[in-house]
Amino acid sequence: MIYEALNDEHDYEIDEIEGALPGGLTGTLYRNGPGRWQVGESLLDHIFDGDGMVSRFAFGGDGRIRYRNRYVRTRHYRYGQRTGRVGLRGLGTQRPGGALANMLRPPANVANTGIIRHGGQLLALWEGGRPFRLDPESLETLGEHSFGGRLSMAAAFSAHPSRCPDTGELFNFGMDFTRVRSLRCYRVDRRARLHHMPRISLPYSPWNHDFALTRRHLVFVINPVIPKVAQILLGTGSIADGLRYEPHRPTCFTIVPRYGGKARIVEHEALLGFHIVNAFEDGADIVVEFVRFADWNQVSTAFRDFRTSDFPWGCALMRCRITPSGRVEAQDLCELPMELPHADVRQAGSPHRFTYFAGRTGPAAVGIHAYDHLKGVRTVHELPPGHGFGEPVFVPRADDADEGDGWLLALAYDPDEHRSRLLVLDARDLEAEPVAVAHLRHHVPMGFHGSFVRE
Ligand SMILES: [Fe+2]
Repeated sequence: MIYEALNDEHDYEIDEIEGALPGGLTGTLYRNGPGRWQVGESLLDHIFDGDGMVSRFAFGGDGRIRYRNRYVRTRHYRYGQRTGRVGLRGLGTQRPGGALANMLRPPANVANTGIIRHGGQLLALWEGGRPFRLDPESLETLGEHSFGGRLSMAAAFSAHPSRCPDTGELFNFGMDFTRVRSLRCYRVDRRARLHHMPRISLPYSPWNHDFALTRRHLVFVINPVIPKVAQILLGTGSIADGLRYEPHRPTCFTIVPRYGGKARIVEHEALLGFHIVNAFEDGADIVVEFVRFADWNQVSTAFRDFRTSDFPWGCALMRCRITPSGRVEAQDLCELPMELPHADVRQAGSPHRFTYFAGRTGPAAVGIHAYDHLKGVRTVHELPPGHGFGEPVFVPRADDADEGDGWLLALAYDPDEHRSRLLVLDARDLEAEPVAVAHLRHHVPMGFHGSFVRE
């Protein structure tokens, strides 16, 4: 089962490779996700509560891959290792002892969601707190990262930063739990120095997961999913149970100038979009693309019942065009259960032609999909029924290769062998046999996000 723990930390050269790894595929794929959803014998109650475990696939360009995985040494991980007991409150997991034991306790930072290398630093990311800095080679945890004291203990640096392909600056945001109805945004320059952007005031205090970067703006699709702070602070229920969808409130398309100026908020009837693929300026309009969810109850139940739930949980790829007058034109581009979308990071802020995602087209048809916006056509690399699958990451054949000319790297899971394999797919021809398949000696639990660093 893909949600079983991987407790061991490995470091080995993958010795079972089908096909031939392309010579031009050199660099490192980092992936992050929970490595275990249990502490001792106690099972955790929410997909976001597992201890962050980073995988590193180093492609030598000589036909070889070295695999390594290590847990991030967070307080949650260390406490669990030391005591074998659930000692810290999670997002959906309560500490034993009822409301009193959970009252006024924030969720533990498990550093399990995203991973980015910027300015020479490798950061494991989680959306409710500060990142953890890791050694890029050994994956040893170097500590919680404050950007030289610029990010306070209570600050959040979200798990979905976006780098501008033109300037090399990294932008990000963090939910601000110290003030109501506000969001913090950050710019991290090429030397990894963090700069605070002006605080943004919102019509309500949301729980927000992602954003996209255009050439001039940060673009948010803020859903009316709202933490019920009093209930959360009282500890009577889990924090996840305290997140409420309030569809009588609007979705707020929030457009924040990158280099100063007032944020613009365009309200639209409530919808649910968590993962944003990309956004760009088209004349005076802003276009933003994301995975839409149909139903909050279904999503929140799937997050809790993840072990038995049918992944993925999104329902459509949606594009919204926001005009200067504040009109929003929304369109579903393709409808199927999908999640973990990805576009070529070189296209961040420009129109992208291809959107890649993990998706399901029927009980026996799961796989890695590519949607070609130019042709309006979707292709899929199908996996055997019952196999687990995750986020595809695109790697261009060369730095100056055309968009779409490269490989998709994605993990798949074989339940019969209880083992994972890394697929190297030709992004131009997903339906073909993989270019190469690297079989691990073990499984990698269902993870979230990854990034590729070319050496
Ligand atoms: Fe995410």
